[in-house]
Amino acid sequence: MDLFAGLANTTLPRLDRAPKVLVFDSGLGGLTVLGALTAALPSADYVYAADDAAFPYGGLSDEALVARVLRVIDRLIQRERPDLVVVACNTASTLALPALRARFDLPFVGTVPAIKPAVAATRSGVVAVLATPGTVRREHTRAMIDAFADGAQVVLVGAPNLAAFAEAELRGAPVDDATLAAEIGPCFVESAGRRTDSVALACTHFPLLTGRFRRLAPWPVDWIDPAPAVARRVVALVGRSPSPRPGAPMRALFTSERPLPSALEAALESRGLTAIEREPLPLD
Ligand code: DGL
Repeated sequence: MDLFAGLANTTLPRLDRAPKVLVFDSGLGGLTVLGALTAALPSADYVYAADDAAFPYGGLSDEALVARVLRVIDRLIQRERPDLVVVACNTASTLALPALRARFDLPFVGTVPAIKPAVAATRSGVVAVLATPGTVRREHTRAMIDAFADGAQVVLVGAPNLAAFAEAELRGAPVDDATLAAEIGPCFVESAGRRTDSVALACTHFPLLTGRFRRLAPWPVDWIDPAPAVARRVVALVGRSPSPRPGAPMRALFTSERPLPSALEAALESRGLTAIEREPLPLD
């Protein structure tokens, strides 16, 4: 098993223009990665794609998910011709990266559970990994824990509804505190005088809710967002260019034809995504 699935598979040829980067997720979670990317590498040409017709990926079987991701990425590559693809989704990366890399001759940067940084941050020796049920099931996730726990107790928590709750938040229909607290509750363990002090947010949707997590946590912990590490890998691959790319608005592409509520349009706009496009791809 390749424990370094977050690293890109291949290098990028030298370009005399801004690199085009496709940032892909099942929904809106990848916006947390896009934010880190635009901060670290403002000069790239980004397009954000949400496979909202198949959201949530955490609910699909492994076979269905690999087939879906291959199909959607194939269509997006034909349409956008990116130089690099960022799979801003742990649920997809921990399963489908090998298949993507085998099928397409492009560099793919994945997002995998930030177990190493979460272990590095702990002082108590108790770490939680908060993920979708899909990511929790993965052999890849277990292998990363075996490789990087370094003696820490790692509590793996599958939150069935949290990605949908993060989507609801951006769509202007936040869930109540008690409902949210119930999803993160299992991260907080206390035994033999030690308690969780570091939580890896192993789904890109979850950092959308960090402010609320901080308020609802029974005690303070470090919430570890993988986005900056993903951005560093992209910068290492494409190199840093000196100035922001002038002009053109960033585009957000959706695979469903569902109308966007105005709260979501505003949330996208505040992240620089002012053009909304559709690439309809219904889930079979
Ligand atoms: N944003 C995705 C992740 O990082 C998952 C959400 C979903 O279940 O679709 O895992």
